[in-house]
Amino acid sequence: MQTHVKIWWIMETKLLRVKPDSPDLDKVKVAAEIIKKGGLVAFPTETVYGLGAAALNPLAVSKIFEVKKRPLNDPLIVHISKKCELFKLAEEIPDKAIKLIDSFWPGPLTLILKKTDLVPEVVTAGLDTVAIRMPANPIALFLITEAQAPIAAPSANLFGRPSPTTAKHVLDDLAGKVDMVIDGGKTNFGVESTVVDLSFEPPCVLRPGAVTVEKLKEVLGQIQIYQNQHGIVRSPGTMPRHYSPKAKLLVIEGKRRAKIKQLRRLAFQFKSKGRRVGIIATEENKDFYREFETKILGSSTDLRSCACNLFSILRSFDEEGIEVIIAEGVKNRGLGLTIMDRLRKAAGPRK
Ligand code: TXA
Ligand code: MG
Repeated sequence: MQTHVKIWWIMETKLLRVKPDSPDLDKVKVAAEIIKKGGLVAFPTETVYGLGAAALNPLAVSKIFEVKKRPLNDPLIVHISKKCELFKLAEEIPDKAIKLIDSFWPGPLTLILKKTDLVPEVVTAGLDTVAIRMPANPIALFLITEAQAPIAAPSANLFGRPSPTTAKHVLDDLAGKVDMVIDGGKTNFGVESTVVDLSFEPPCVLRPGAVTVEKLKEVLGQIQIYQNQHGIVRSPGTMPRHYSPKAKLLVIEGKRRAKIKQLRRLAFQFKSKGRRVGIIATEENKDFYREFETKILGSSTDLRSCACNLFSILRSFDEEGIEVIIAEGVKNRGLGLTIMDRLRKAAGPRK
């Protein structure tokens, strides 16, 4: 039994600190015990923090929906730590899935495959498919291995809010509602995994993510990208509004000069109405917004750092009481496609 592990309490939630660079994985055994007993543990992955429960325990999984206030028709990703676990969860594993797994696992790629009867209905929201991924974070992998079962985990935020990239973000949304949060530092990518549906031909990207479409094409040749046409939602996470700050969010796209001009015009308009305006700018353009509270997403030539900062900036502006956020769009290529997907959804129409 672990007696030497130091644990902090934040309301009713235990906080376990694990150094991200040299993690003392032994500490994580305490968290695995909670999962085994049907509890909820938030943990770091390389993308965003996940809120985990034993995937094969329907009662434990149903608690995830309850604390996140997530609709029951939005299925969860099942996280595994060994490739062999895939065969217990997925009925058919096409060659293309094997190719993707060999190229990207462990890593930020989620595959949708036909499910076996072992996967409870609550995990897949009654669908005949299951989402599976093997995360690259050592803390996450150790937690799954020690829990001796796959872990179902959505992002560890309240439904609709920006995904958490630090343990503080998780606590801001879920303190007192989950059994434990493992603080393993800031996540690497800052955006969620790419979701690819391989349950039918041709394969289709349901959610752009940390693995770019260009990288997927290098492995598979062609791949479809899902468009939310005619109101048909193939994956509930592709709903129009998601990842949203409390503030009103506007995203300005277009060529550099026109974008800066329009953004300044709107910012002055809101300011003149007495609204507190915050701007999300690229490093290159930040000086054009000196009159406003500006946060830097990153350089437009370093989309990896832009992705990493995005959700955290949305949350910071909310904390500071900013009422209107105006964000510069980035190019719709590579990780830029993922960043724009999140920005557009965060700015999506309120119900
Ligand atoms: O990086 C990530 O993917 C993070 C970390 C924690 O792994 N997880 C995450 O989970 O973003 P969540 O629940 O926030 O998003 C999962 C997405 C949702 O859009 C959900 O609708 C979709 O995956 N999904 C899950 N199972 C599916 C299925 N069987 N068919 C279609 N879409 C599915
Ligand atoms: Mg989510």
